Formats: sequence, C-alpha cells, structure tokens
Amino acid sequence: MQDSQLSSEVLPQHIAIIMDGNGRWAKERGKPRVFGHKKGVDAVRKTITTAAKLGIKAVTLFAFSSENWRRPEDEVGLLMELFITVLSSEVKRLHKNNLRLRIIGDVSRFNPRLQRKIEQAEELTRHNTGMVLNVAANYGGKWDITQAAKQLAQQVANGELTPEDIDESKMAQYISMSDLPDVDLLIRTSGECRISNFLLWQLAYAEMYFTPVYWPEFGEDSLVEAISWFVNRERRFGCTGEQIKALMEK
Ligand code: IPE
Ligand code: IPE
Ligand code: MG
Repeated sequence: MQDSQLSSEVLPQHIAIIMDGNGRWAKERGKPRVFGHKKGVDAVRKTITTAAKLGIKAVTLFAFSSENWRRPEDEVGLLMELFITVLSSEVKRLHKNNLRLRIIGDVSRFNPRLQRKIEQAEELTRHNTGMVLNVAANYGGKWDITQAAKQLAQQVANGELTPEDIDESKMAQYISMSDLPDVDLLIRTSGECRISNFLLWQLAYAEMYFTPVYWPEFGEDSLVEAISWFVNRERRFGCTGEQIKALMEK
C-alpha cells in the first residue's frame, strides 16, 4: 500500500485518554509528584496538536477523577492551581487554532475562581469548528449515568415523560458529550489496565489500548503508534506509523 492511499476515514473519530503515571515518572527521577503533573502538561499540548493535525474530531482527556479528591490535600491543591494556570495560558492558543474546549464532570465542587475560568474558556471557544477538546474534571462514569437518570426522573415526575419513553437513545441524550460520536479508541498510559470510573456509557464499543509509557513521556510518536494499532485492528490490514503521519496537514 502506498503512503498516499490511506484515507483519513479509517482514523478514530473520538479518542479518550486516561493520562496516568505522572507520579511514578517523577518519583523515578527523585522529584516530587507535582513535577510529573507539570511535565504532563507538555504531553497534553503535544497530544492535542498531533490529534488536530490528523483531523481527529474529538479528544477527551481524564484530568481529575471524582476519586482523586482522596489524594493528599496539597497534591489536590497543586492540581487545581495547575488547572487554573493551564486554562489561562493555553485557551488563547486553542482558540487561535479553532478548537472547542469543554469541561465534563461535576464542576460545582470547584472553587468559584476555577469555575469562572472554565466558563470563560468554554464561552470563548464555543463557536469554533475544529477539533473538540473535552477535559474531564471531577468526572466519574457512574456520576455521568446517575445525573442523566436524575434528569429523566425529574421529567417523569413533572409528567413530561412516562417510564416507557425511556430507552437507550433517550438516556444517551443526557449523558455527557451526547452531541459527539461514542469513543472509538481509549488510551491508558503507565501500564495500568482499568477504566478507573472514566467514561462508561461512551466506551461501550471502544478499542482499548494500554501502553507502559508514563504520561509525561507520551508524545506525537506515541499517539501515532496508538492510532496505527487501532487502524490495524479495525480494518485488519497492515498500515504503518509513516502512513498515519502522512495524513497530517502540513
Ligand atoms: C495521573 O498521574 C494524573 C492524575 C491522576 C491527576 P498519577 O498522579 O495518577 O500518577 P501515578 O499513577 O501515581 O504514577
Ligand atoms: C485515573 O488515574 C484518573 C486520571 C487520570 C485523572 P488514577 O491514577 O487516579 O486511577 P487509579 O486510582 O490508579 O485507578
Ligand atoms: Mg495514577
């Protein structure tokens, strides 16, 4: 097969990533865990740039789980600070590149300053037409399904809906990212092979890719490798990373 023959239609439309291993990466270098989180931001930047160049429709990143509040208070505090700093520094660049940023999860638990930053970032990029970047923050897959069920229950209580009206497509309308295709490729770094309460509904048919690479070391080549693995599984033919790279807009 020639490089030019690979069509972008074979690429995943929606990639979700569990960015894991920041702490271990830092520890192996004798540094505090937060050093790994900071370095992880570079990996986020590289991943977004590569995915956008490939014309991927949506990328969803797991930044903070509903269980991550159990971490030591100072680590949680530093992660929140980092989140605010990155939102402030990166959102203009995302906007310039026509990306749409959205936060999924229960943001009501974040401090008001962070909630305001989130609103501003979403508002600024709302009408952009390029790749959608979803950042899952205080997100849990069980929370997502529960909040959808709650909205439907409320409609039943109001008499706007009967229990018989509730089917999978009705549920799907209230699950986060209902306007996007379901995830077709899930990537988890750092060698762990579990979902950790990330997207549950949206992963129903996703291919799962687990790599031993720690998140701070994930870069363009790592993403290209994951995508080649996906294409080879889905289409059952041998394509190379070079062919994937050939699809990038120069
Ligand atoms: C992922 O890295 C980042 C977040 C959960 C915020 P970890 O912090 O989980 O790193 P490890 O798994 O302890 O190495
Ligand atoms: C999942 O990673 C959450 C994020 C990447 C934000 P964790 O490192 O928190 O997951 P567990 O605790 O190992 O399952
Ligand atoms: Mg971890």
